[in-house]
Amino acid sequence: MAQFFAFTPKRRENGAIDFYDLTNYSDMKVLIATEKPFAKKAVDGIKNIITEAGYEVALLEKYSDKAQLLEAVADADALIIRSDKVTAEVIEAAKNLKIVVRAGAGYDNVDLAAATAKGIVVMNTPGQNSNAVAELALGMMVFMARNQFNPGTGSELQGKTLAIHAYGNVGKLVGRKGKALGMNVIAFDPFISDAKVFEADGVQKVDSIEELYAKADYLSLHIPATEQTKKSIGYKLLSSMPKGATLVNTARKEVIDEAGVAQAMTEREDLKYITDIAPETAAEMAEKFGKRFFATPKKMGAETAEANINAGLAAASQIVDFFKNGNTRFQVNK
Ligand code: 3PG
Repeated sequence: MAQFFAFTPKRRENGAIDFYDLTNYSDMKVLIATEKPFAKKAVDGIKNIITEAGYEVALLEKYSDKAQLLEAVADADALIIRSDKVTAEVIEAAKNLKIVVRAGAGYDNVDLAAATAKGIVVMNTPGQNSNAVAELALGMMVFMARNQFNPGTGSELQGKTLAIHAYGNVGKLVGRKGKALGMNVIAFDPFISDAKVFEADGVQKVDSIEELYAKADYLSLHIPATEQTKKSIGYKLLSSMPKGATLVNTARKEVIDEAGVAQAMTEREDLKYITDIAPETAAEMAEKFGKRFFATPKKMGAETAEANINAGLAAASQIVDFFKNGNTRFQVNK
């Protein structure tokens, strides 16, 4: 097996990982652990990148039990995951682990504090699966506008106001696609104050969440699940939306206050909610709200061959670049 010189992370006293020294990395084992598997082409591509770099690949797909993951990570030096939960227990079981790459955007499934405490670098692959999610968000709007493809008179997206909550990689693509469909697109992002960022896409910046929801015929959610955003979308915001408005969630279920949304939909028989992340109460909501509610059976926003290939190959390349060159550009636990 070839020997490679690379860098290994060192932890500062305050827990930050920002200091590297030369280490001889060889015989690295990269585990792909995906409960929801990548497309075969993506798996083949990942394997090529890893083996060409001189490292070993192991594959754990469609596992049903946490114990399988705990066993598989025991000798892994690197881990590629999707929405798989990397808890403190998983990190404890992974004695050799140096890097975790979440092939995707949201890394709320990784216990960052536990990883950082062990000097493990955590990365994501921002933007790589965004187009798939954005296309699904627009598709969900059409699906709801056309009575979930049931007979009857529907409506068109053209001329309606599409409001985008958070203007990151997915939000931007949803905005551009909405413009192409003739929608009036507005957006709010608490971290973007420069209106030019929105104007570059022909999108109008609004100054508050309240204004965004009050104007939204379609509200497309793109906020991450954080301590600040959890359960932040509920009764008040939904109740403020215009007549016949639709909430579209391709972000995370944790950001929704389910009871609040249900309450608003009970009081207002015109409101609709479609989500790619089934709420805990999905069955009850489907029964109660009929065609005003829909949840995909399993999160499918990033379930395209293209997104799997983009995100999977990026994850593999980032691991190789980290071991060989110490590149931590996409590290999220700095
Ligand atoms: C993401 O955060 O990238 C998306 O939610 C996709 O998640 P998935 O890889 O589980 O489909």
